Amino acid sequence: MVVVFASKNNTCFINTLFFKKLSLKWGKIMTKDEVLEFLRNNPVFSLATSDENTPHVRNIMLYKADDNGIIFSTGENKDLHKQLESNPMVEMCFFNPQEGKQIRIAGTVEQVEDIELKKRIVADYPFLKEWVDREGYDVLVVYRLPHGKALVWTMETNFEPKRHIDL
Ligand SMILES: Cc1cc2nc3c(=O)[nH]c(=O)nc-3n(C[C@H](O)[C@H](O)[C@H](O)COP(=O)(O)O)c2cc1C
Repeated sequence: MVVVFASKNNTCFINTLFFKKLSLKWGKIMTKDEVLEFLRNNPVFSLATSDENTPHVRNIMLYKADDNGIIFSTGENKDLHKQLESNPMVEMCFFNPQEGKQIRIAGTVEQVEDIELKKRIVADYPFLKEWVDREGYDVLVVYRLPHGKALVWTMETNFEPKRHIDL
């Protein structure tokens, strides 16, 4: 028998118990901060784009992942940039083989025009310096995923319903 008390505090208590029970049954859901930490610790990700109904996927190096979004860079001359200009909807896939954990993040990227950020990227990736010195900073294109929906997969949670984490 379930006794429901009318008071606000008790409703809160019952809700807490309910979610505790769910999280025990389905395993603990990762927090946004834990997801962002996972991305920083596993910075190479597969980036899927879709252009004219054709999928494309390639490895990309994460530049930054924090409360301001997920940042990566590419070249103005690359197909990736052209695909993102015509369709900015992406899915990113991060993986850690030791943990057997995969995190997919879907959302819409936007281009970031921030010369100071570009300078920091070139300072962090010195192999870009000669190219940018020769061609100018416009050839370096920076993208940001400001908000994404993350989906965590492990073998243990394989049969659980999908639970998205808002980033
Ligand atoms: C580990 C790894 C990291 C990479 N990081 C980037 C990156 O951050 N930006 C980028 O433009 N290409 C990166 N590449 C190269 C891309 O995967 C890809 O080959 C190239 O950008 C051309 O892709 P496109 O044909 O989609 O334009 C990386 C490749 C590897 C293997």
